[in-house]
Amino acid sequence: MNDRITILDLKAMKRRCEKIVMLTAYDYPSARLVEAAGVPLILVGDSLGMVVLGYDSTIPVTMDEMLHHVKAVVRGTTRAHIVADMPFMSYQAGPAEALPNAGRMLKEGGAQSVKLEGGIRIAETVRALVESGIPVMGHLGLTPQSVNQLGGYRVQGKTPAAAVRLLNDAVALQEAGAYAVVLESVPVPVAQAITEKIDVPTIGIGAGPACDGQVQVFHDLLGLFTAFVPKHAKRYAEAGQAITEAVCAYVDDVRAGRFPTERESHLANVPRTANSTNGADVILSETTH
Ligand code: KIV
Repeated sequence: MNDRITILDLKAMKRRCEKIVMLTAYDYPSARLVEAAGVPLILVGDSLGMVVLGYDSTIPVTMDEMLHHVKAVVRGTTRAHIVADMPFMSYQAGPAEALPNAGRMLKEGGAQSVKLEGGIRIAETVRALVESGIPVMGHLGLTPQSVNQLGGYRVQGKTPAAAVRLLNDAVALQEAGAYAVVLESVPVPVAQAITEKIDVPTIGIGAGPACDGQVQVFHDLLGLFTAFVPKHAKRYAEAGQAITEAVCAYVDDVRAGRFPTERESHLANVPRTANSTNGADVILSETTH
């Protein structure tokens, strides 16, 4: 048994009105940095398809790609609760497919829970996972795996009827045993109503401040993904720009002969033979005598 944050800890945070911070991470170094900053809940999101693998949506992401990144994030952390995103078509067909796939995220990946997109439609699957011992985080509102059905990345729950559907979806997820629900791109009053209605934590992204917690994408937060900036993202650093500047400085140094210097070189203390005229002679004399 390890010492990681559990779903009981996360539910207790809601009861204490303690805001829950979740951030994505996709590899060993980013996971280490995120955990070192005190983030208790790390999502290995299928957003990695766009920000790490260069796909134009999350649709192509596979189970094997997710597992590869989940394992790296687990290796980079000791305390954080790791949520593995279930990729498109790894659970939509129902419990018979969802169970072995979600099981792999815990057994092979080492994650502590999984995240699925959808509400009432997937409630039966959520129940089957939870009953098998697999904690589930739900995801409602703008569900990127349904981008083709939604007609784009749009705010959801804008009409009264759509808001009620979202509320019913959240209740259905809670009743099926989900321990938390992500609300993505949902109007502030709708997110607030859902947060007040259900007992499990809501984690918002573009859903306003009333949610019990917030989640952001690592690359959006740090300025590492420049294709577009979502409205919900706040840049806390321009790391992409800093990296480009650093690499340009390296390129200039190599071209100008400023790198490497003696400091970055191995200055072997090889005695020169009397008749040596160049380095090759020295190495030859050292290796042949
Ligand atoms: O894949 C992801 O990163 C997500 C978050 C945006 C919630 O699902």
